Amino acid sequence: MSFEPQIPEWGLDSFKKHQNKLIEYHNWLKDTGIKTGLISKKTDQFIWDEFIIHSLYFAKLIKKYKNLKECEIIDLGTGAGIPGIPISIVNKTNVSLVDNKQKRIYELERLVKILNLNNAKPTKQDANTILNKAKNSIIVMRCYVSTSSVLKALEKKQLKENNLTIFVSSNSKSTDILNKMFHVKQEKFLINKNNFRYIDVITDM
Ligand SMILES: C[S@@+](CC[C@H](N)C(=O)[O-])C[C@H]1O[C@@H](n2cnc3c(N)ncnc32)[C@H](O)[C@@H]1O
Repeated sequence: MSFEPQIPEWGLDSFKKHQNKLIEYHNWLKDTGIKTGLISKKTDQFIWDEFIIHSLYFAKLIKKYKNLKECEIIDLGTGAGIPGIPISIVNKTNVSLVDNKQKRIYELERLVKILNLNNAKPTKQDANTILNKAKNSIIVMRCYVSTSSVLKALEKKQLKENNLTIFVSSNSKSTDILNKMFHVKQEKFLINKNNFRYIDVITDM
């Protein structure tokens, strides 16, 4: 089935030049990703819109909120490299791709060689351990845990003292459970012509 590798208006300028590598990643997801069980069977368009375009909005928000020179980026519960791989394609900052399943790490190690991504580092670790010890980091999570779970696991001082900013994929309802101790801004964006998605941005401000 054919698909349209569209990029919504919000990403046209900065992402169009990376389109070839993003399409290479799309091909890997739809072949190796599905074959090895890193993602379940999905249409080509779904893989593009939900995995690649959704990931690119994380990259766009990181630029909006953080000075990238100061930080490394950590993708917790990365699975098939979502959102960490598209983020590492569109910027030069180091991105750690963290998962606790060795099989996923082996596949990601092969992938970063195929895509020639020197700034993407697959790492087998427990996400909770990393969340507690990370410093000067931008942490991204897509479909791994909810914003409320992240807030429960965090101490307020951690964000400021360790210089952390956290981006978590969420749904529109999560504004109900946002914790007053933290500043959480919900960003809403289109992944294609009709479908909105949300990312919660957790900062110490
Ligand atoms: C639902 S998948 C989401 C994958 C990807 N972020 C995405 O958006 O498609 C969750 C991933 O988190 C990993 N995971 C689960 N518990 C973990 C933990 N404690 N530490 C690190 N990774 C974990 C799983 O192996 C799996 O790859």
